[in-house]
This record gives sequence, structure tokens and C-alpha cells, in this order.
Amino acid sequence: MSLHLSVIGCGTMGRAVVGGLLASGEGEGWSFGATTHSAESAARLAAELPMETSLDNIAEATRADVVILGVKPQMAASVFAVPGMADAVRGKMLISLCAGVRIAQLEAWAPGARVVRAMPNTPALIREGMTVLSPGSTATAEDLALAKRMFQSVGRCRVLEEKHMDAVTGLSGSGPAFACVILEALADGGVMMGLPRDVAIELAAQTMQGAARLVLQTGEHPAALRDRVTTPAGCTIAGLFRMEEGRVRSTLARTVQEAAEVAAGLGC
Ligand SMILES: NC(=O)c1ccc[n+]([C@@H]2O[C@H](COP(=O)([O-])OP(=O)(O)OC[C@H]3O[C@@H](n4cnc5c(N)ncnc54)[C@H](OP(=O)(O)O)[C@@H]3O)[C@@H](O)[C@H]2O)c1
Repeated sequence: MSLHLSVIGCGTMGRAVVGGLLASGEGEGWSFGATTHSAESAARLAAELPMETSLDNIAEATRADVVILGVKPQMAASVFAVPGMADAVRGKMLISLCAGVRIAQLEAWAPGARVVRAMPNTPALIREGMTVLSPGSTATAEDLALAKRMFQSVGRCRVLEEKHMDAVTGLSGSGPAFACVILEALADGGVMMGLPRDVAIELAAQTMQGAARLVLQTGEHPAALRDRVTTPAGCTIAGLFRMEEGRVRSTLARTVQEAAEVAAGLGC
């Protein structure tokens, strides 16, 4: 299939999605275009990915078959406030990546566009992303199928009702940042006990990846997998006790809650 995919506001997330689509081969035969706010960003992007870049949202969206909206949530309304922009996306699938921007807002700004809300994350760049989709009122089964194929090609993808999108944003949208802090802290422990920094980071990253893959591949509850590592009177239970003293569970759960609550207000 050949189509033209336009990313209106192609920064970190837009690049991750397009980079993943190209790496997976799903974007084979497609053409890609993108817009940015500054000429410097447009030039950098054109050097990095096989995309035509410009500062002209209307011209780019006009030639699109599918439009991805990748600007910051606070910018979304102003993009559609420009005369001609709503017409440029009319009759097309509009996939919004914007945290906190509701389907009803997008449908009001771009009447006639078939809206799909998406919440991906940055590991899409290496095809290890997690994306949740919510279709708008006029998105067709074909639209949703195409959006699913696109995001499945850059990782896992599931469809949920829009009411879950803020929680999704706080968990998997922001989650790579939280995971990196945990990873770095584990590596710090290894460094404190004498490991070279690069070795400690490799060990921490592969261990987190391995544990995560075990959960996904076995479908077992994480607590069951944790118990299997925990020998009575051993070193792991000693470490787990110290984690509990640091209230790591409630801190992480509240981290997601806080991020979700902030996400809920981003589109206002
Ligand atoms: N980053 C994440 O991990 C993540 C995860 C999930 C969802 N999201 C969502 O993805 C969206 C983008 O986030 P991001 O982190 O990719 O932001 P970003 O890196 O700042 O990218 C935003 C892009 O929009 C461009 N832009 C700004 N105003 C514009 C305008 N009027 N017309 C066209 N382009 C314009 C910027 O251009 P310049 O470079 O020239 O300023 C930049 O390229 C957000 O809505 C966010 O909620 C992000």
C-alpha cells in the first residue's frame, strides 16, 4: 500500500513513530512529510529521516492521506485556528498524539476529519513502543485497522476507551522516564559496590528488560516471578525489605497518578 503520511509537528515522538515505521518495513512504499516550528528543526529532521520537511502545515496536510498531529498539547488548538487547516484535514484520518487533548476537542477543531487518539511512547523508535488507541465518533473500522497496523509495527498496541487515556499517559506515555530513573538507581548501587559504570548500566538494563519480558511472555503476576527469586533468609529478601522501607511501591504508584492528573489538564 502506498500513502502519504504527514506529521504536523514532528519532534521527539513524531520521529520515534516514523523511525519505527521505516525500521519495521511497514512504511515501505509510503512517502513521509513533516512540519516543525523552526527552520533549524526542519533541516535537522530532513537530514535524519527520509522526509520532506517544511514550516507549512496547510500545504503538508493537504497532500496527506493520513495526518499525525505531534505538536505539544498546548499548541494543538492554534494549529487548527489557522484558516485553511481544518479544510486540509477534512475527510482524512487525523491521529493525535497530544496528551490531554480530547477527541471532542479535535473533532470540533477539525470537523470532517476522522479522529483517532493515540498515546505512544518513545521506545517506538526501536520498535519496542507501547501505544493505546481510542477511535473518535467518525473513525471507521478501516481507519482503526490501519492505525493499529502502524503502531503494532513499532511495538505493542491496544485499543481502549478514551476515559483511560490520562492513566495511559501517566503509565506508558511517561513511563520510559520513570523506568530510566529506576534503572539508573539500580546501576548506582552496582557502582557503589565496585562495578564499572558501563557494566552496571548494562546489567541493570538487561535485568529490567529480562524481568519485563518474563512478565509479558509468561503472563504470570510479577509477584509470582519475584517470589521465585526470593530464597528464605537470602540476599533478595534482604534487598526487598530495604525497598519497602523506602516506600518504593507507593512512591511509584503515586508517580503514575501524579503524571496522569497533570496529563488530564494539558489540553485545556
Ligand atoms: N515525548 C514523549 O515521550 C511523548 C509520549 C507520548 C505522547 N507524546 C505527545 O506527543 C506530542 C509531541 O511531544 P514531543 O515530546 O515529540 O514534543 P517535541 O519534541 O517538542 O515536538 C513538537 C514538535 O512540534 C513542532 N511545532 C511546534 N509548533 C508548531 C506549529 N505551530 N506547527 C508545526 N509544528 C510545530 C516543534 O518544532 P520545533 O522543533 O521547531 O520547535 C517540534 O518539532 C505531545 O503532544 C505529547 O503530549 C509525547
